[in-house]
Amino acid sequence: MFAIISDIHSNIEALTTVLADIEKRGIKTIYCLGDVIGYGPDPKPCLDLVIEKTKWCVLGNHDYAIFYEPTNFNYAAEQASFWTREVLETEEDKGPREKRWDFLGHLPMRQSFKVKLDDEEMVIDFLHASPRKPINEYIFPDDVYTNPIKVKSLFDRVKHVCFVGHTHLPGVFLDEPDFYLPEELGDRYPIVSDEKAIVNIGSVGQPRDKDNRASYIYVEDNEVNFVRLEYDFETTIEKIKAVEQLDNFNAERLRDGR
Ligand SMILES: [Fe+2]
Repeated sequence: MFAIISDIHSNIEALTTVLADIEKRGIKTIYCLGDVIGYGPDPKPCLDLVIEKTKWCVLGNHDYAIFYEPTNFNYAAEQASFWTREVLETEEDKGPREKRWDFLGHLPMRQSFKVKLDDEEMVIDFLHASPRKPINEYIFPDDVYTNPIKVKSLFDRVKHVCFVGHTHLPGVFLDEPDFYLPEELGDRYPIVSDEKAIVNIGSVGQPRDKDNRASYIYVEDNEVNFVRLEYDFETTIEKIKAVEQLDNFNAERLRDGR
């Protein structure tokens, strides 16, 4: 049994809510698909909690932007990344400062492991964005209709199951190609050995599917379970608004889940 979290975006209210739920379920292993920081007001405690609670984390485009440089960011996202970098750089306590930079500087692009299912060996991949551009490519639900060649090319790079984040839109892609929202699946997707799937786990700290609740998944036996949780986004909104360099749009969107 393990849980996967992604796209926390410096939202400590959402992250602590999700971690409490994971603990309540007795889940001990947590993986993270990146974008721990960026957009939100609490980069330090979010980094510290992810470092403490997760087994590993892969590199997201916002983590990359803050450690290296922003690429293809809009103005607000870029400003947020510069502000986040400054917050991390001006930490006076050497221990935590170095621990956070060391973590960001060593995030891998991809993680994989094998599990046994129906006497078959299954490969499970973990990436932030997409199997062919692990940090930056968006896989949108509409791609199954508007760009099936792209979806095929993505599935050519997936052996069995690949977990991703990045779009902040939870759901399951199959190689038909097809896309299913969690609610169309009763919030459950059973992993079977003869079906390839790309599973987007949604976003902890900035959901964009018009549902303002924090999103994460856990896997029990062969079943992927989608979870949504209400959290205190009004507090996060107030904190974002109090920081001049953080755009108010990235505060208000939390209320609408967009
Ligand atoms: Fe993100």
